[in-house]
Amino acid sequence: MADIILGIESSCDDTSAAVISDGWLLSNVIASQDVHRQYGGVVPELASRAHELNIVPVVSEALSRAGVRKEDLTAIAFTRGPGLLGSLLVGTSFAKTMAVSLGIPLVMVNHLQGHILAGFVKQKDVPVRQPSFPFLCLLVSGGNSQIVKVNSPLDFEILGQTIDDAVGEAFDKCSKMMGLGYPGGPIIDRLAKEGDENRFQFAKPNIPGLDYSFSGIKTSLLYFVRDEIAKDPEFMEKNKADICASFQKALIDILMNKLIKAAKQTGITQIAIGGGVSANSGLRDRITQEGRKRGWETYLPEFKFTTDNAAMIAIAGYFHYRAGERCPLDIAPVSRMADF
Ligand code: KG4
Repeated sequence: MADIILGIESSCDDTSAAVISDGWLLSNVIASQDVHRQYGGVVPELASRAHELNIVPVVSEALSRAGVRKEDLTAIAFTRGPGLLGSLLVGTSFAKTMAVSLGIPLVMVNHLQGHILAGFVKQKDVPVRQPSFPFLCLLVSGGNSQIVKVNSPLDFEILGQTIDDAVGEAFDKCSKMMGLGYPGGPIIDRLAKEGDENRFQFAKPNIPGLDYSFSGIKTSLLYFVRDEIAKDPEFMEKNKADICASFQKALIDILMNKLIKAAKQTGITQIAIGGGVSANSGLRDRITQEGRKRGWETYLPEFKFTTDNAAMIAIAGYFHYRAGERCPLDIAPVSRMADF
């Protein structure tokens, strides 16, 4: 009999539920929350309230699209963390209640592992192409920037990570600073396509090992824009495409330098990316180019799997379930998960 897993994701501002059967995707429903846009960032209290409203219809829709009755489910996988505590509480409580009422196991998933394993979701009519183990994953989102060595679906080693801001934060905060809007990543990505990436230079960090830092470049952009606007108030408007292209290039250079170093140090040539920033077109192009040059096999997630979604939670949960892992009912969500 197939293992049918319901995945539930509620770590930030997307309420999502997905059903997979033996690793094959049957449904993936996401309700995004537009309410935050007017505030220029996610408001935690509003996010948890919206999750409360969304969770029942989203789970019902996922089951119905999958053509699966709740009695057919083998286990329920949910995001335990990291994320916003109030948001995580909604998904965790719902998953527990449903597992108890159905008398089926509960499996907890680290959200970051979900992003890394998103590429293992198999889909009808999409050729299966997955990295072999061990592989390196550049995990880049609004909360994280890490290089992870993935030894198996259950064994992760962080080789390097940011010591301050995440790269997604740099995109978002700098976009806000330039008055471009929220979320900043997609806006900068779009404007960068029309600009000259070599026009402006921004200070790059000099951090030892495989760790990252993105706070310095943020300050560099802040001072640059402030000084130029003091000379010409129209500067931002006239040059925004070039600023975005140059800033994005600088961020990608920082990410790629350490990724290349990690690949050299480990000798690993299976390279994947994951997380919200993996949707960035400049980063995707650069990884593909470097891959060709360096003999890497590169794995880019489909766009629908770059943002938060429950399909990635369901697939990670499936691996945990198959390994015999079960989660006690008194489990609490956690906003930070220091390690994998
Ligand atoms: O993984 P994610 O959906 O949420 C978590 O942080 O867990 O990532 C959100 C981040 C935001 O910082 C957003 O600006 C960034 O991903 N992002 C992008 C792009 N699309 C989303 N950054 C750069 N280019 C994009 N196209």
